[in-house]
Amino acid sequence: MATALVILAAGKGTRMNSDRPKVLHEVAGAPMLVHAMRAGAALDPDRTIVVAGHGAGAVEAAARGWDAEVEIVLQAEQLGTGHAVRQTRDALADFDGDVIVLYGDTPFIRPETLSAMQAARAKKDVVVLGFDAVDPGRYGRLKMSGQSLDEIIEFKDATEAEKAITLCNSGVVAADAATLFSLLEAVGNDNASGEYYLTDIVGLARKQGLSATVVTCDEAETLGVDSRAALVSANAIYQGRARAELIAAGVTVLAPDTLHLSFDTAIGPDTVIEPNVVFGPGVTVENGATIRAFSHLEGCHVARGAVVGPYARLRPGAELSEDVRIGNFVEIKNAQIHAGAKVNHLSYIGDAELGKKTNVGAGTITCNYDGVSKHRTVVGKNVFLGSDTMLVAPVTLGDDSMTATGTVITHDVPDGAMAVGRTRQENKPGFARKMFEKLKSAKARREKGVK
Ligand code: UD1
Repeated sequence: MATALVILAAGKGTRMNSDRPKVLHEVAGAPMLVHAMRAGAALDPDRTIVVAGHGAGAVEAAARGWDAEVEIVLQAEQLGTGHAVRQTRDALADFDGDVIVLYGDTPFIRPETLSAMQAARAKKDVVVLGFDAVDPGRYGRLKMSGQSLDEIIEFKDATEAEKAITLCNSGVVAADAATLFSLLEAVGNDNASGEYYLTDIVGLARKQGLSATVVTCDEAETLGVDSRAALVSANAIYQGRARAELIAAGVTVLAPDTLHLSFDTAIGPDTVIEPNVVFGPGVTVENGATIRAFSHLEGCHVARGAVVGPYARLRPGAELSEDVRIGNFVEIKNAQIHAGAKVNHLSYIGDAELGKKTNVGAGTITCNYDGVSKHRTVVGKNVFLGSDTMLVAPVTLGDDSMTATGTVITHDVPDGAMAVGRTRQENKPGFARKMFEKLKSAKARREKGVK
């Protein structure tokens, strides 16, 4: 059966107090919308449609950034969840299959839960994802007769007896497209909110003799975000889970509470992560690496056995091969550091390539930017760069070459050559002592007020 995913993302999220549309607020480095799209993508849907409204341009850009094929449908006025789904009717006019409706502000739905709904849809006309709430609050309530779902009652419209029901609506709904749109045609807005409720399709379906049921999931999966405080909680929940998964997968995490992970962080077993490490989006670390304390990594790859930090910064495009050493206060950006190379202290290596076993002395910097364009530095293998070498790009240093400490490299260096580019040292015998005396007597005169 073909599947279309419809993700509702038109709401403003007034309580976020933000210019940014609610679904673009981030959990673990990715917009909530992307989390919903990722969960849905696990079903391998034939179509994915995002319903955008507030900040539609930004929502579209974020959605396409994740999935270039995504379709965007505009809901110009937010008249309710039923109205939002109805906006996709034209886009899905030729679609013959199941529609699964998800919310763009519910980032924790598991793919397994969506698969269970897909399976339930094969047997029932309408399937709703529900959960047993500890505190049902303002969620819609699910009225059941045995295994059969009779109706969803919105909190604002519920009687006291209905409010006592703890089985709640997550908002995720699955139905065959033809059934869904024909039921939505009949949904009105004569209710406490004056909105077109998607939830009304259940009662309407049952009146027409169609079947409806509930698939349940853990309450934590359905956590929606509608305030800054809820966003903070969502991030904390995400981190807790992701850290636990990492540890279970064989990664040694010395201080889990201080580790920050992103939605796509991938770390191999036997890697050791010291306290206070931040993984921004797009990081992969192979087995047996060590990420030492206070390091910040983003958009980079760390191969087996490499050691990073403490206090290192790996920026996008940093590619570390096996057994590379990156030490304290070193920044690497868009650079390939080949096996066994070492950049141990106080360096910036950007737009560069360092060959195998090359050793970079303390304070060495690639001068990659001329104020207008970026230029590349290529350093061969087994090169020794003396401390405080300035590599003024574009420049190439051959294999087995060497630079003298404090050299400013402005021209290519051939294989095996040593480059020296600094003023020659001169010693002036006795000069320092004389100078100290002179300075001390000048100070004494000043303190006595003598000019
Ligand atoms: C909805 C459900 C409620 C359920 C709860 C779970 C309805 C009528 N009620 O309530 O039963 O317990 O979710 O969180 O469906 N949206 C649009 N366009 C609109 C309105 C909403 O795109 O016109 C989107 C929002 O951006 C959001 C989602 O739909 O992503 C849910 O909207 P929201 O207003 O949060 O629904 P609730 O009233 O909380």
